Amino acid sequence: MLTADPNASFPDLADLLRFYAEAGVDEPLLEEPVNRFEEQAAARQAAMAAVTKTPPKMPAPAAPARPAATAAPVLPDEEQAVRARELAASAQSLDELCELLRNFDGCNLKLTAKNLVFADGNPQPDVMLVGEAPGRDEDIEGLPFVGRSGRLLDAMLAAIGVSRKTNAYIANVVPWRPPGNRTPTPLETEICRPFIERQIELARPKILVALGGPSAKVLLHANEGILRLRGNWKVHRTASGVEIPTMPTLHPAYLLRNPAHKKLAWRDLLEIAARLDQMRA
Ligand code: URA
Repeated sequence: MLTADPNASFPDLADLLRFYAEAGVDEPLLEEPVNRFEEQAAARQAAMAAVTKTPPKMPAPAAPARPAATAAPVLPDEEQAVRARELAASAQSLDELCELLRNFDGCNLKLTAKNLVFADGNPQPDVMLVGEAPGRDEDIEGLPFVGRSGRLLDAMLAAIGVSRKTNAYIANVVPWRPPGNRTPTPLETEICRPFIERQIELARPKILVALGGPSAKVLLHANEGILRLRGNWKVHRTASGVEIPTMPTLHPAYLLRNPAHKKLAWRDLLEIAARLDQMRA
């Protein structure tokens, strides 16, 4: 929090802006800043004045019932999850699914995101990789894994002859950036889950890769942590019963923070490469 003391020495403004950007405060809402502290103090003073000077008011008579609104009713989140399942199941192609998702208003994350981040790569892939949710760079470009962790992911994939230009398809469990890169809530994840499940079903990769714990949890209904799960082949079963071999592995953002664990991810990549070779033989 910034100090309100006008004599305090400010940090370098560029550092401050960088800090804001990293914390997700990257969108001006108003032309002029608003001093909320002043507003709160004024409201408190007004309330105090009202309590000390004015006799208590009788409650106002109830307003007459309004005529029913004509706009579409806003459904509670649980109903949005049901609607999401019906919509996702109705998509017959990845393009159709993308359009349905673009027009779907049931997830509040859409309100703060700049772009839908649907997918990148070959929609008929050997390998499909699924992350958790887009970050700032992805939100700006509308493409998954284009920031620092995306560059690491591309380098890791290149080492086993996989790339989004040729045989990989990349998506996220949640296709809108949560504000400030916060973790998506369980309900947001549940609302988005049918779309990523249908996306996997329509892309029908030979191998699925869950990047990080949250993705593994959704795709594999797993409860263990990613350090326990990673490196072991699992199965993702689509709604129509197709079984896709799935490798849970460490998220590239985690590897950037914990480079000593890159060797674990490398082992997982070698497993994926060997399985691909077997499938091609
Ligand atoms: N992290 C993710 O999980 N997905 C992205 O697209 C980028 C970073």
